[in-house]
Order: sequence, then C-alpha cells, then structure tokens
Amino acid sequence: MPSRDDDTGGTPGGPPDRAAADRELLARVRAAPVLAGPLPRFDPDTAPDTPGPLFAGWLDRALTDGVREPQIMTLSTAGEDGTPSARVLILRGVDSADCAFVFAGDRGSGKGRDLAARPVAALTWYWPAQGRQIRMAGPVDVLGEDATRQDFLGRSARSRAAAFTGRVSTPLGGAEEYERENRAAEALVAAEPDRVPAGHTVYRLRAGAAEFFQADPARHHLRLRYTREGDRWTRTLLWP
Ligand SMILES: Cc1cc2nc3c(=O)[nH]c(=O)nc-3n(C[C@H](O)[C@H](O)[C@H](O)COP(=O)(O)O)c2cc1C
Repeated sequence: MPSRDDDTGGTPGGPPDRAAADRELLARVRAAPVLAGPLPRFDPDTAPDTPGPLFAGWLDRALTDGVREPQIMTLSTAGEDGTPSARVLILRGVDSADCAFVFAGDRGSGKGRDLAARPVAALTWYWPAQGRQIRMAGPVDVLGEDATRQDFLGRSARSRAAAFTGRVSTPLGGAEEYERENRAAEALVAAEPDRVPAGHTVYRLRAGAAEFFQADPARHHLRLRYTREGDRWTRTLLWP
C-alpha cells in the first residue's frame, strides 16, 4: 500500500476500486494486534465496595502509566424519539464518593437537546494500553450558575474563544467563516474576560450502574458490574 500523507480516502493516480481497497483495509485491520499486553491485573475480589473509588484508582493508574488522554470519554445520549447519539467529551470532574461525573457542553448542541428531552446518559472510557473499559450510566442533572462559571472561566483564553465561535452543531459555511467568527470571539474574550456563553452548561451524571472490564491477552477477561440500589451498591461478576 503506498503511503499517503493525507487521510481523505482519495486514490492517487486512477479511478478508485473501492471493494479492493476495503478488502486490503480489512486485511490490515485483522493483522493489527489487539490486547497484545502486557496488561495490568485486576482482582475483583479485592475491589472496593463502591465503584467511585475503583474509577478513581483506575484513572490514577492510567495517568501514572502515561495513558494518553484518559480524561476523554464517550457520552451516549438518546433523542426525544429514541435515536441514539454518541460523541467524545472531556471529563471535567469526578465525585468518587457518589460515583458522579461532570462534563460540559452547549445547551443547544445535539447532546444538550437530547439531555433536555431525556436526562439520562452513558459514559464510556477505553484505555487500550491497559485493556481497560469503564462504563457508567445514570440520570443527568444540570449544575447551577456557580459551577457553570467556574468551569468556563477556568479554561484558557483560546478554549473560551472557541466556545464563543459560531454555534455548535449548526452548519458552517467554510474555513473563512470560521476564521471570521473566531477573530470576533477572541476580541470578545479579550474585552470581556468574565463572560460565559449563554448556552454553556455543566452536567453531572450520577451513575446507577457501573462496569469495569479488564481485558487479558489470553482472553480470560474480567467484567465487574456494580448496581446502585437506594444508597447501597451490589457487585456482580459478568461473563465478559
Ligand atoms: C478530544 C475531544 C474532546 C472534546 N471535548 C468536548 C467537551 O468537553 N464538550 C463538548 O461539548 N464537546 C467536546 N468535543 C466535541 C464533541 O465531540 C462534539 O463534536 C460536540 O460536542 C457536538 O456534538 P453534539 O452535537 O452531539 O452535541 C470534543 C471533541 C474531541 C475530539
């Protein structure tokens, strides 16, 4: 396969044979190593009684081991009609005592509209270098103005300008329009450093179910589920 320095899927020098290209791609995917290890061990018998501290422990280990961007997670929501939607976000806060997770986004975005219609969601992390997957699911609340301001104003000027640029999840005309809007947003942030976008929203997912998956190179994977019942958690091993 010739090397390409772009990833647009174009075929240099001739009409594309998509089926052949797909077969070649699949062959390379199948040859790519998966769960090659070495992977950390996980003993469910010594796992904490509640999932929050286990999450914190795994995140701590991911950071210590140099896992890239362990704070990136997939948020899955469903629209009013049940249509699922998922995207990656940054983890903005953890309350390990209550097994709750904070993230932020715009109220008018797809996720914002989904959560307004159905305030329930799932979060998923996957750290390939460790073969670890974590899943959390539960109801989502909107945090108040103080948390919103604190979240937004704690960001870099560049990140705040990006949030003021255009309108997330609506059509964009092109690079020029982006640059124009971004310059205006940078000027706004410089002139009003304490301003928070009207749509900026901080959400808190309180897990009702939590799952920890530790993959094993020999495929003896471990899967531990926690389920919240009132103020207690029960633990169950699941077939992986
Ligand atoms: C690494 C990474 C981190 C992101 N973090 C956030 C975030 O914290 N909040 C956010 O609203 N969008 C974030 N995004 C953008 C979202 O993935 C998504 O494009 C955007 O929120 C609009 O999605 P929606 O229309 O489904 O709401 C991030 C994207 C990437 C690639």
